[in-house]
Amino acid sequence: MLRKIGIVLLAAAGLLIVSIALGQGPRVPIPVDMAPGAERLFPDEAAVPEETAELMIASIAERHRGDPAMLRDAHPFAHGCVRGEFVVSSAQDLDPALYRHGVFAEPGRRYPVWIRFSNGSFQRKPDTEGDVRGMAIKLMGVPGDKIGPELQTQDFLLITNPTMPAGDPAEYLALFKAALAGEPMSYFLNGAPWNWKLGAFRTVIQIRGRAIPSMLNTRNWSAVHYRLSSPGHVDAPAG
Ligand code: HEM
Repeated sequence: MLRKIGIVLLAAAGLLIVSIALGQGPRVPIPVDMAPGAERLFPDEAAVPEETAELMIASIAERHRGDPAMLRDAHPFAHGCVRGEFVVSSAQDLDPALYRHGVFAEPGRRYPVWIRFSNGSFQRKPDTEGDVRGMAIKLMGVPGDKIGPELQTQDFLLITNPTMPAGDPAEYLALFKAALAGEPMSYFLNGAPWNWKLGAFRTVIQIRGRAIPSMLNTRNWSAVHYRLSSPGHVDAPAG
């Protein structure tokens, strides 16, 4: 009898280990025929950000009910704002077809910048506690057409983690909904173990656990990819 229980427990443990190893999602499928440098829309890409924005606005209103001022949803608390100069690299070994676009086109070009360093958390808490931090760089005096109302600036947003927990807009919305309902684990451990989103969970733990002693000597990442060239231009080398 004891032997049978042992075998069942062992099998259950084995299944759990395999499931955890497989359940490293969310997995975002990329079509095999995607050309390097090409862009594609996610399913419901038009609707998902709209729903995300609506929920975000509702949650800010709820959080600040009765407050005279509303804070932004993410990165509301600044460590500080500094003024500086953004100097485009003059390195000769950069492939111009890949890298010399937009504000990076002219080697050695200088732009005045403002940089806002922030704590990502929407809750006020000691800066000694681990969490993601932001580095928002605003270049001034940038010519060219813009989609926003600020006609002479360009922003680069960076964070202190190389990746985001959720891999696409719908995944982010699902995580956001679970967090708003006060049940974030329902996003990570939803369904069968092999569908658990343990990759996302690991990223959150990694982000939350990392204390940042100083923003001035901490590496920052763009975390998501951006197109560096004109729309439709495919210039990344194959392979
Ligand atoms: C699902 C994707 C994301 C959502 C929904 C989101 C949401 C937000 C929101 C609501 C704000 C406050 C904006 C304001 O009221 O001024 C914000 C700020 C910020 N976000 Fe994100 N964000 C996303 C992705 C990213 C990524 C990929 C990065 C960079 C790698 C980033 C970096 C920042 C930074 C640095 C700020 C602070 C900007 C400042 O200091 O003015 N975010 N984000």
